[in-house]
Order: sequence, then C-alpha cells, then structure tokens
Amino acid sequence: MNKLTTQVAIIGGGPSGMLLGQLLHKRGIANVVLERASAEHVLKRIRAGILETGFAELMREAGVAARMEAEGLVHDGFAISCNGATTRIDLKTLTRGRTVLCYGQTEISKDLMDAREAAGLPTYYEAANVALHDVQGKQPHVTFEHRGEQYTLKCDYIAGCDGYHGVSRQSIPASVRTEHERIYPVGWLGVLSDTPPVSDELIYCRSARGFALASMRSHVRSRYYIDVPLSHTVDQWSDAAFWDELKLRLPREAARTLVTGPSIEKSIAPLRSFVCEPMQYGHLFLVGDAAHIVPPTGAKGLNLAASDVATLYQILQRVYRDGDLACISQYSEIALRRVWHAERFSWWMTRLLHNLDERGPNDRSGDSGRRFVESELTYLLESKAGQTLLAEQYVGLPYESVRASQPMLRETEKAKLA
Ligand code: FAD
Ligand code: DHB
Repeated sequence: MNKLTTQVAIIGGGPSGMLLGQLLHKRGIANVVLERASAEHVLKRIRAGILETGFAELMREAGVAARMEAEGLVHDGFAISCNGATTRIDLKTLTRGRTVLCYGQTEISKDLMDAREAAGLPTYYEAANVALHDVQGKQPHVTFEHRGEQYTLKCDYIAGCDGYHGVSRQSIPASVRTEHERIYPVGWLGVLSDTPPVSDELIYCRSARGFALASMRSHVRSRYYIDVPLSHTVDQWSDAAFWDELKLRLPREAARTLVTGPSIEKSIAPLRSFVCEPMQYGHLFLVGDAAHIVPPTGAKGLNLAASDVATLYQILQRVYRDGDLACISQYSEIALRRVWHAERFSWWMTRLLHNLDERGPNDRSGDSGRRFVESELTYLLESKAGQTLLAEQYVGLPYESVRASQPMLRETEKAKLA
C-alpha cells in the first residue's frame, strides 16, 4: 500500500477539478488530482464552447489564460431564429458592455493539463476504484488503484469534481441527499467539422422540424447541433443526413450559405436537468456536473462548474489562510442559489427552442402548448425587456462572495476594540 498525504484530494480531472487544482496551487494549497480516464480520453470529449466572463477571469487568476485570450473569439451577441425569422440578441448593448467568449472545453482542458504538468503537480490518470472514506469523520481519505498498485491518500478535504457518473455524490448518504431530476425526450446530435462557421455569431433555431444550433470553435472549425429522439444512435446519422436535416432547420439564408464537410466528431448528448442537495457533506464538496446537470441550451454547464469552483476556492482560502473553518457551511447555500437560477434558465431556453410535448389535460387540438411557447418566444424577441432578460442570463449572473463566519467577525471586532 502506497501512502500519500495532501490538503485537498480532487476526484476528477475534467475542467472543474483541473481549474480548482490550479487555483489552489497558486495559493500554496497542496492538492492531488485522481482521474479515472487517460489524459487523451479527457481531451477527446467535445463539449462546451461558450464561456462567461466569470470563467475567463478564473482562468486568468489561475495563470492559464494566455492561449484563451489569444485564440478565443469574443461574441457580442447571438441570434435566435423562430420558424425562419431571425432576431439578434445584442449582449453587449443589453448588458452594459458584457460579452461571452467562444473557446472550446477541449482547449481549456489542454491549457489546464499543460499548466499542471509544467508545475509538476501530482495527477493520477487512469486511477481505478477510487473510493472516499470517513468524509464526515476526522480522517477523510481516498483509496485508489494505479498501474496495479494500491494507494491511500490522506487529506483535509475532498473536492468531488467527477461529473454526473462519478463516485463522490454517492458518498453523501441517501438519507441526507435530495436529488431533483428531469429527463427530456431528446438528445443533441453534435457534429464538429473543419469548415468555416455559417455565421460570425451563434444561431439558436426553433423550427417545426426541431431545434438546431450553429456554433463554432474557430474561424475554420464549426460545431453544429440538432435535436433527435432519445432512441436515435450516432450510426443512424450519416454526415449527409445530418447536413440535410440541419439545412431544413436553419434560417433560409444560413442554409443557403452553409459549407458542409466530413465530420471529425459526432456524438449524441441526452438532455437532463439534475440537482443534488446539499452540495457539501462533512469534508466533501461536490463541484460541477457531480452535483448538477443542465440541458445545454443556455450554455451554462461548464459556467456553473466554474462558479462552484470560485466559491470553493474562496472557502478553502479562508480555511487555510484565516483558519475560518466555519465558513465551509456556506458552500452549499451559495453554490445552490446560482445553480437553481441556471437550472431554471436552461430549462426555460430548452422549452422555448425545442418542440417538447406540452400537451395539457383535455387539450383537444393537442397543439395549444406549442402555440403558447411560440407566442412567448415571439413576444420576448420583439420586446426590449424580453431581450434583456435573455441577455442578462446568457452572459451570466454575478458570483456571490463568501462571508467571514460569525466567530471570525467577533475576533475582528475584538481586535478593533482592543
Ligand atoms: P466533467 O467534465 O464530466 O469531468 C468529470 C471528470 O471526472 C471526467 O474527466 C471523468 O472521467 C472523471 N471521473 C468520473 N468518475 C470518476 C471516478 N470514479 N474517479 C475518478 N475520476 C472520475 N457548458 C457550458 O458552460 N457552455 C457550453 O457551451 C456547453 N455546451 C455543452 C455541449 C454539450 C454537447 C455537452 C454534453 C455539454 C455542454 N456543456 C456546456 C456542459 C459542460 O461540458 C459540463 O458542464 C462540464 O464538462 C462539467 O465539467 P466537470 O469537470 O464538472 O465534469
Ligand atoms: C455550444 C454548446 C452549447 O450548449 C451552447 O449553448 C452554445 C454553444 C458549443 O458546443 O459550441
């Protein structure tokens, strides 16, 4: 048995775990990352593309923003098309200067991995049978296997950054945990291709045939999505079938100018809303997709992971710098407030842009739900207030600060009085 010790054990080397690790390292807080997959596998997953400014600021704070700043594309707005009629949401004007950044999750992971390796920080890829122990007690530790050897990692705290299918969440007893879940009847079929994007800005489309999204990774690499029934598989969709269906859902001008090419990646992601409460139990903190999933329509998943990281980073600094152990109880409360806002926004955007079955009881035509949603979307797009509502949430709500806990305040006050 190999024995290791650290301050913070980080389970999962996705963007949450790697960003947290880098930030803690900058503040001298030791951490070890345990990742089930290989580094190559992590880099192969094509996911998020749109970053809020809060995410970009954390990358800067972590000292890993150089490539993101050089290659990321600043987007001042995006378009929503409803049955072919397109409206631009001018993020910059509607939010007093705020924008989003188009920079792929793969690139973020690569930047974080490179920085971690350059700093020589301990990372165990292909760590098997990761198990959390005594998370509520005095001796939290993690056991795992790596290259045929058994390890025990003693730590002060555990950050569960291991995504929806990870082990960390299961370490919170079922009697303490409440899970809220909603599964949608569709998935997003995504295609990545080395073709110029059809537009400089993203286009989210609602159409009678279903949802479509035109996105990008660079001026020469496009990312497109259409929604498909959950029963569909990637093999069912040839590149030609995908492009044909996409053209039928895009606004006419975009369909006409779309440049197609061979897919370099194709995958289906199911749509889900999920929240686990609480997000902290004893010495364990759940971060990112381990605690919550949003349907991707509002581009919030990774951004929400980043706000969890920001909150935990503040808390762990207070713990190690100020000895403010009591502040850890604020984690769940602060993180969940933002999580529920993003969950609601993502559910709402999903409903507005997909043809979900909204049939109510005794709905004779069976179509009133669709009409309600289309009417709501048209109203929002025609109203400045409606556009502002969309824009403010799309660029992201502000991060909340962790407060010094009461005993600490009393200490400060005592010091002032002395
Ligand atoms: P993950 O990325 O899931 O990382 C968890 C890591 O833990 C993985 O590397 C996994 O291998 C590892 N792991 C799992 N189990 C174990 C274990 N037992 N032991 C050790 N390691 C383990 N978000 C946005 O903000 N903007 C977008 O534009 C956007 N677009 C998206 C598009 C699609 C198609 C999809 C699917 C998602 C999108 N998201 C978007 C969401 C975003 O990708 C996720 O929210 C993000 O990956 C969460 O990061 P994470 O580090 O918390 O979890
Ligand atoms: C991308 C994904 C999203 O979920 C989204 O809302 C916008 C862009 C993307 O992968 O580019």
